[in-house]
Amino acid sequence: MDQEATEARWQKYYAQVSTQSHRKLTAMAVKALSPALQKTALDCGCGIGSDIAYLLEQGFDVQGFDIREEPLDVCRQRFSDCPWLTLTQADFMEFGYSPVSLIVANSSLFFCPQPAFPDVWQRMIDALPAGGIFSGDLLGVNDSWVSSPDHDVSAFTAADVDALFTGFEIIYRHERDEPGQTALGRSKHWHMHTVIARKGAADQGLIRTR
Ligand SMILES: C[S@@+](CC[C@H](N)C(=O)[O-])C[C@H]1O[C@@H](n2cnc3c(N)ncnc32)[C@H](O)[C@@H]1O
Repeated sequence: MDQEATEARWQKYYAQVSTQSHRKLTAMAVKALSPALQKTALDCGCGIGSDIAYLLEQGFDVQGFDIREEPLDVCRQRFSDCPWLTLTQADFMEFGYSPVSLIVANSSLFFCPQPAFPDVWQRMIDALPAGGIFSGDLLGVNDSWVSSPDHDVSAFTAADVDALFTGFEIIYRHERDEPGQTALGRSKHWHMHTVIARKGAADQGLIRTR
């Protein structure tokens, strides 16, 4: 698929989800966050800001980034002049991850290419303090996008996911591995690991530090 067709598909996707509410997963992650931690959150691949809206309502200072300008423009209009929101156009690889209590990555980390993933992941989890929470999805190896020439994705087995969350307490985990549809109604095989996990303390010797 050429670049123009890819962007046209993303435009249709944003129109399709324009009235979408925040994800229940994000609400679960917010509930699980210790009140002792600052209410700061990062939404990676934030799209048109469904989860940003919820996080702002919950009193978080929010950073959001997305590789595409179009959804960020929607966010700028939607949250115009909100002093508690910082938006950045950036790729997973180039974003400057700074300390934050909650990292949300809903249906977005799929699109971090596999060779770049280890460094991106390390920088993301380094940005979390002890007790900080990751909430989001990783693609599974059986997903039809893994072998599709139209997608450059990262994908993981259940054992890979165990390894990624070494030193985390798993709060919620679900694996979806079944035929389904995209938001635009196209048939595909979904294989997705959905996780909410709390980072352990570095002094427990569980977390790698730089
Ligand atoms: C399926 S949408 C999900 C949007 C939002 N997280 C949600 O759940 O509504 C995936 C988003 O990831 C963004 N994205 C794709 N590749 C990216 C990359 N390499 N770096 C940052 N964002 C990316 C897309 O532009 C898109 O807005």
